[in-house]
Amino acid sequence: MSTETAASAPSGAAPINSTIPPNPLREGMPEETAPRPAAIIIFGASGDLTRRKLVPAIYNLALSRLLPQGFALVGVARRPKPEFAAEMRENVAKYSRRKPLNDAAWNELAAGISYVQGDHNDPTTFTKLKEELERVDKTRGTAGNRLFYLSVGPDEVAKIVRGLKESGLVVAPSDDPEASYQRVIVEKPFGTNLATAKALNRELLTYLDESQIFRIDHYLGKETVQNLLVFRFGNTIFEPLWSRQHVDHVQITVAEEIGIEGRIDFYEKIGITRDIVQNHALQILTLVAMEPPSSWDANAVRDEKVKVLRTLRPIRGKEVLERTVRGRYAAGTVRGDKVPGYLDELEALRAEKPELSKDSKTETYVGMRLELESWRWGGVPFYLRAGKRLAKRVAEVAIHFKSLPHGLFKDTLGATNEPNSLVIRIQPDEGISLRFATKVPGQGIAVREVAMDFRYGAEFGASTPEAYERLILDAMRGEATLFTRADEVEAQWGFIDPILAAWEKYEAPVANYPAGSWGPTEADGLLVGGDTWRKP
Ligand code: BG6
Repeated sequence: MSTETAASAPSGAAPINSTIPPNPLREGMPEETAPRPAAIIIFGASGDLTRRKLVPAIYNLALSRLLPQGFALVGVARRPKPEFAAEMRENVAKYSRRKPLNDAAWNELAAGISYVQGDHNDPTTFTKLKEELERVDKTRGTAGNRLFYLSVGPDEVAKIVRGLKESGLVVAPSDDPEASYQRVIVEKPFGTNLATAKALNRELLTYLDESQIFRIDHYLGKETVQNLLVFRFGNTIFEPLWSRQHVDHVQITVAEEIGIEGRIDFYEKIGITRDIVQNHALQILTLVAMEPPSSWDANAVRDEKVKVLRTLRPIRGKEVLERTVRGRYAAGTVRGDKVPGYLDELEALRAEKPELSKDSKTETYVGMRLELESWRWGGVPFYLRAGKRLAKRVAEVAIHFKSLPHGLFKDTLGATNEPNSLVIRIQPDEGISLRFATKVPGQGIAVREVAMDFRYGAEFGASTPEAYERLILDAMRGEATLFTRADEVEAQWGFIDPILAAWEKYEAPVANYPAGSWGPTEADGLLVGGDTWRKP
C-alpha cells in the first residue's frame, strides 16, 4: 500500500470544494486522505474517454474532497480547443454519476484546467507542455508531481513516453519520499498482440521504471470486481467450496447492449477479443481463480494473478475451432429498438472511408471453454463470453456447484432440481445472489429453488464511485495493486495470440447472431456435460 499522505496546500492553491460533507457510508472509518499535490496531463484530451469518463471522474474526486489542494488538469491533443474547460463542463454535467453539476466544485476545479494544442510527433509540443507545467507548478502549487494519462491508441504510447523523457518531463524515480514524482497511466489495449506488448514494455522500461508505469484496465477499479477479493478472502465460508471438489463449472459473462458506437476503425483493427477478453474478462477470471495472496500488496496480489494466467491451458491450432466461437451481430432489436448489423454499419461508412475492408472478419462476440491446469481447478470448465449488442447489459460471474450426489427428493422435487449456484453481478444491479432449494410451505415435500440476494444499491445507496475515480486516485498515490504488471499483460496476450492466429489460419467462421439475442447458437456447442449458458 501507499505510504504517501496528504501534503499541506501550498499558498495560492485553492482548496477543492471544502463545503462538501464527508461520505456518510464511511462514518467511523479512517478519513481517506488526499494524495500529494499533482498535475494530471491527459494525452488524447479531445477523445471520447476523456469526455465521458476521465474528466467526470476527476470532477467526482474533487466533489468527494479527494483531490489535493494543489491540483491542475492539462489536456493535450492535436485539435485547437480554446474552450476546453467550458466543453468539459458540459460533459461533466452530462456524464457525471452525481447530478446536477455542483457549480462551486466545478469552478474550483476549472480554475486549474488548461489545454496544450499539439501533435505528439512534434517535439515543440513537449516544449510547450513543459512551459505549461512549470507555470502550473508556480500558480497551482503542483510541486513537479505529474501523472500523465495516455488515452491514445497502442501505437502512440511509446512515441509520447519518448517525448516526455527527451524533454525532461519525466525523470528516474528517487528513493527520497519527498522528491517529486512522474507517473504514466497507459490505456488498454496494451499492444495488439504478444510481440507488440513485449516491444512496448521493453521500450517503456528504457524511459521509465516499472514503478512509474500504470497499465490500466478499468474493470479492476469497479467496486464489484474488487469485492471479488473481499468476498473470497474476507470471509471463511466460501473458500472451502471454491475448488474442483464442489464447483461444477464457472461462467463469466461480459455482455453489452451497445454496438461499437462509431468506433468502427478501432473495431476493425481490434475486435472484441482484444477489446474485452484479453483484459477485462481475463482479469475477472484471475480474481475468481487465484490463490489467496500473502498480503494486500501490489506484487503479492499480482503474483497470484499471473500464476492463474500461467495455468490457463493454451488453446492452439485446430483445437481453437472446438473451444471458441466468434460471432458478429446482424440487424435485430435491442430493447425494442431496431438496430443495424455490424456489416451494415461498415458498409455505410465505406463511402467515406474506402480503406475499410469489404471482407471483414471482425468479431463482436466471442465464447470460449477454458481449463486451468491446477490442483484447485483441474477438470472444471470455465466458460467465458463477451459480446456487443446482446440481449442485456450484464457483467457477472456464475459459480455453478456440483449436482446432488443422491436425489433424496427426486420424486418430490416438482419443477426444479437445479444445483446450487452463486452469481456475482458486477454490473448493473451490482450484488451477489445464492440460489438454493427450499421446501415450499404446505403438506408433504415439494422443493423449489429460491435466491438469497445481496444488492449493493439497497445496502449502500445507488451512487458508488466509478472505476476511473478509484484508479486515478490510486495512481496519484503510487498504489499499483489494481493495475496490470508487465508480465501479467504479456501472459494475457500469450493466451490470446494463438486463438487469433488459428482463427486466421483456419478461416474460422464468424457466426451471425441477431442483435438483441444472447449470441450465436453455435456457442451452445462449447458447453459440455449438459451445461447451458445462463440467460441473466
Ligand atoms: C472498454 C471497451 O474497455 O470497456 C468498450 O473498449 C466497452 O468497448 C467498455 O464498451 C465497457 O466498459 P463498462 O465499464 O461500460 O462495462
